Amino acid sequence: MSLEAAHLDALFREARSHNKFTDQPVTDDELRELYALLKFGPTSANSSPARFLFLRTPEAKRTLGQALSSGNYDKTMAAPVTAIVAYDPKFYEKLPTLFPHNPDAESWFTNNDSLAAITAFRNGTLQGAYLILAARALGLDAGPMSGFDNAKVDELFLSEHGWRSNFLCNIGHGDPDGLYPRSPRLAFEEACVLL
Ligand SMILES: Cc1cc2nc3c(=O)[nH]c(=O)nc-3n(C[C@H](O)[C@H](O)[C@H](O)COP(=O)(O)O)c2cc1C
Repeated sequence: MSLEAAHLDALFREARSHNKFTDQPVTDDELRELYALLKFGPTSANSSPARFLFLRTPEAKRTLGQALSSGNYDKTMAAPVTAIVAYDPKFYEKLPTLFPHNPDAESWFTNNDSLAAITAFRNGTLQGAYLILAARALGLDAGPMSGFDNAKVDELFLSEHGWRSNFLCNIGHGDPDGLYPRSPRLAFEEACVLL
């Protein structure tokens, strides 16, 4: 099944990385719906290493503010929700549940630290992309950001869980006022090779 053109526009062609959001709130139910979609995106061995903290309160935002680059500060304080897209370096502990048809899966990672690290980061990043697309599919908009102090965010929010930060993503209903013109993308010939 192929989606209709309007849906492809909403997911890709017309979707933007938003800097400014309207006052329309994002409800906790919408955040639950967002996770209920993004969790189905594929990850290696169904490892699902991403973890998400949804910051909604002024207090949580103020805490995050200590770690933001100056260019990301105002828009993040004003956004209805900011997600910390994190990952669990010990994701493999859940493989007996998440990958039940292979009881050996956990040992692939407990015996190989570098494989565990790259698997956590690669698949956690993919799940961050699923978050952006799921938000768009639900009529929300996203503003991903890597301009912040990862170590500080880890210390402020994640150390108690043993998780690490990957990137941040503002979520809300985008206000096109905050956009600059769409930047060009690489042509097929520049970015793709047919073999
Ligand atoms: C992982 C990631 C990190 C980004 N970091 C920042 C950032 O720190 N600050 C910012 O203003 N934009 C940031 N952006 C937004 C990009 O500049 C934007 O997605 C890109 O220019 C494409 O814009 P468009 O989606 O509106 O076409 C980031 C995007 C991604 C995916």
